[in-house]
Amino acid sequence: MEKIALGVCSSISIYKAGEIIRLFQEEGYAVRVIMTEKATQFINPYLFDSLTGEKTIISLFDERQRPIEHISLAGEISLLLVAPATANMIGKLASGVADDFLSTFYLAVKCPVLIAPAMNEAMYLHPQTQENIRRLKKLGVEFVEPESGYLACGQKGIGRLASPEKIVQKSLRLIRRREIFQDKIVLITAGPTREFLDPVRFLSNPSSGKMGYELAREAYELGAEVILVSGPVELEPPPEVYIEKVVTAEEMRKAVLKHYERADVVIMAAAVADFKFREHLPAKIKKDSLSESLAIENTPDILQELGKLKSRQLLVGFAAETTEILERAEKKLKQKNLDLMIANDVSVPDSGFGSGYNEILLLWPDGRSRKIPRATKRKISQEIFSEIEVLLHERPRN
Ligand code: PMT
Repeated sequence: MEKIALGVCSSISIYKAGEIIRLFQEEGYAVRVIMTEKATQFINPYLFDSLTGEKTIISLFDERQRPIEHISLAGEISLLLVAPATANMIGKLASGVADDFLSTFYLAVKCPVLIAPAMNEAMYLHPQTQENIRRLKKLGVEFVEPESGYLACGQKGIGRLASPEKIVQKSLRLIRRREIFQDKIVLITAGPTREFLDPVRFLSNPSSGKMGYELAREAYELGAEVILVSGPVELEPPPEVYIEKVVTAEEMRKAVLKHYERADVVIMAAAVADFKFREHLPAKIKKDSLSESLAIENTPDILQELGKLKSRQLLVGFAAETTEILERAEKKLKQKNLDLMIANDVSVPDSGFGSGYNEILLLWPDGRSRKIPRATKRKISQEIFSEIEVLLHERPRN
């Protein structure tokens, strides 16, 4: 099992370290915690012992540790993450001071190092802290920027520890990145579109965006540059993903076409509404003035247009079906000139629309197919990207 070393410093946000550990464990990683002396004033190390099943390291001179533990552990880990990192620890790491286990360990590791700062805004923006951060970045150390909001001191500003999800996603990008995705731009659409009749009524569908956002997360963790064109959903995109928020099919079309030329891989996971009202009224229609029938017309078929314009892009589509899954998906694969089609049977309970799970059938233009039984959308995204990786390897390098 791959292992991560988690350095924990003395910050109020230390309570988020437990969540960080859990998220790593869910992804199949073991975590070894290293606390600074001062951090033990906030939390008893026994908490981390219990969460990780391993003795938390605090001192360089602990008889229960292996001799020269900092060197032995350095050879076992895939990543050193310091979260939360205080101004003091960042300063020590930037200047090579090695006066406790964590700062000494930093000098011994050869794996990637990621720092998630957490402190008061004035301390974070202080030229000295910023200079220390610049120095570490120059040495190849990566950072997860802190967020803005209410700080422990009661003031509002930048300095809050980034969310555990963001910290873990960025960590996984450093561990999981694959060479083939390093120089790739992956354009993904997610969520529904809304086609308005008047300012308060629209045609749409139950897409939650989960499938598209999980695909964006996977592309990000594999090292790609990710552009996410998202319909209205309640989800947080992964860190460093460029997001374009759209509402209607026409807006989605424009956003996708804007980035299409640059993209290497395009995945249309969005549930684009197929119809829109012929008329879009500027004021709310009164109930009694509504006619019995409303005229509708087709929205633009974005994927079909992309298929026609395709040059070097690898084009992936989804097909949400309830009957004749294989036949309909095969037809769309050809019609839209795709390199890979992902058919999902959206009549399966707790699968497809809105669910955290999906069940898919992958189809290739040469007639091959592969079924992936019901699994989390996280797992489904990983399977989809392992097939995309194969397709990318088969392509001539340009
Ligand atoms: O968002 P979730 O809740 O996680 O749900 C995931 C999902 C079920 C929405 C997703 O897995 C999915 O199946 N997305 C595609 C849904 C869809 O629109 O299927 P379709 O068979 O109607 O369209 C085929 C393809 O053409 C799709 O890639 C679609 O994005 C695209 N399309 C469709 C209509 C249109 N006007 N323009 C398009 O580009």
